[in-house]
Amino acid sequence: MSDPYFQKLFAQRIGGENYGKGAGIYKFEKIKRAKRKALADHPERHLLDFGIGENDVPAAPHVSAALGVEAVKTENRGYADNGIPEFRAAVARFMKRQFHVELDPATEICHGIGSKPILAMLPGAFINPGDVTLMTVPGYPVAGTHTTYYGGEVYRLPLLPENDFYPDLNGIPQEIRSRAKMLVLNYPNSPTGKMATVEFFQRVIEFAHQNEVVVVHDAAHMMMSYKSAPLSFLQVDGAKEVGVEVHSLSKGWNMIGWRLGWVCGNPTIVQAYADIKDNSDSGQFKAIQKAAVLALDDAEIPLATCRKYHRRLEKLVAMLQRCGFRCEMPEGSYFLYTPAPRGMGDHQFANAEEVSQYLITEHSICTVPWDDAGAFLRFSVTYEAVDEAAEDALMIETEKRLNGLHLTF
Ligand SMILES: Cc1ncc(COP(=O)(O)O)c(C=O)c1O
Repeated sequence: MSDPYFQKLFAQRIGGENYGKGAGIYKFEKIKRAKRKALADHPERHLLDFGIGENDVPAAPHVSAALGVEAVKTENRGYADNGIPEFRAAVARFMKRQFHVELDPATEICHGIGSKPILAMLPGAFINPGDVTLMTVPGYPVAGTHTTYYGGEVYRLPLLPENDFYPDLNGIPQEIRSRAKMLVLNYPNSPTGKMATVEFFQRVIEFAHQNEVVVVHDAAHMMMSYKSAPLSFLQVDGAKEVGVEVHSLSKGWNMIGWRLGWVCGNPTIVQAYADIKDNSDSGQFKAIQKAAVLALDDAEIPLATCRKYHRRLEKLVAMLQRCGFRCEMPEGSYFLYTPAPRGMGDHQFANAEEVSQYLITEHSICTVPWDDAGAFLRFSVTYEAVDEAAEDALMIETEKRLNGLHLTF
């Protein structure tokens, strides 16, 4: 069959006239296929899924109940545009209570339909063709993808164990610094589990001034901070002069599907985002924003989420260590990022993807491989387990399958 006339019309950014014809399979599609094969080949073997990166429970009952109440009110029916004052005020209260950060709700906070679209829109405020966004890898790629959509370039800053999973800002070449406009960071980091420190953020602020770049700190995993209390970029002196922080209700408050987050910090950058946003969407449903006010005012919700995933990570790390993995307790996030073994018994692997495929197809254990900066496996503790006994049973079954695999590194 011949191509439709519009095949040649597709933009280069999605592949141009070859759009949809590539044979490459993306990582998550490969995982899905391997899972299907494992289920087909071994229907008797329960799939142990450490690959899911989404909270396993719904939002708090009183928050969902408030959504039900607000959803039917006439006053909530219309476009929310750049957000309602009640939500901005609740964010300001939360930022003050949690981080002692003072924000003007009218000018320094703006909501988004999740933090993903915020990260997608921010490059629209800064990136012209040829401009550079500095981004850590492995990481959440959305700001980088949109940077390239605008004709910009992404300069990758590898997060390596030898650098404590912080980017080597000093190693960025002068030619790149001179074209860089945005530095995108994410702590607690996904997937490495590293938390930021005040000293690191101080270096970032200095770097931003020296090189005249805007800092975007992605705080999506903020409320899962285990090593110490959650640390906001905006807590550090001078942060508001150079950047913004992007928050999400998704993870800490079990509201992934609700699609709500916010950007806060420098008022001019917040306004620039709001201008791009105003031309892209008409805001999140007011009823969702109003229910989220209850969530933000309830300090216990993110604490309970944090306690649960902390407990699960401790059990996972102890079990994997017994099986020969070289892992340590992550400082934050609901992920464990651990070096992928080079071999298991007679099986040798070239990279983490091969390990992950082997574990799924041969042992029905699903993980996510990362090969961007060394070979690592990501285990998520967002698996479904109704209580602690179910968590323990999952650990026992996983240990049974992994034990005796003779890992080599
Ligand atoms: C590091 C990071 N940032 C941002 C997001 C986007 O979250 P949301 O759009 O649900 O707020 C995710 C989601 O997985 C993430 O892991």
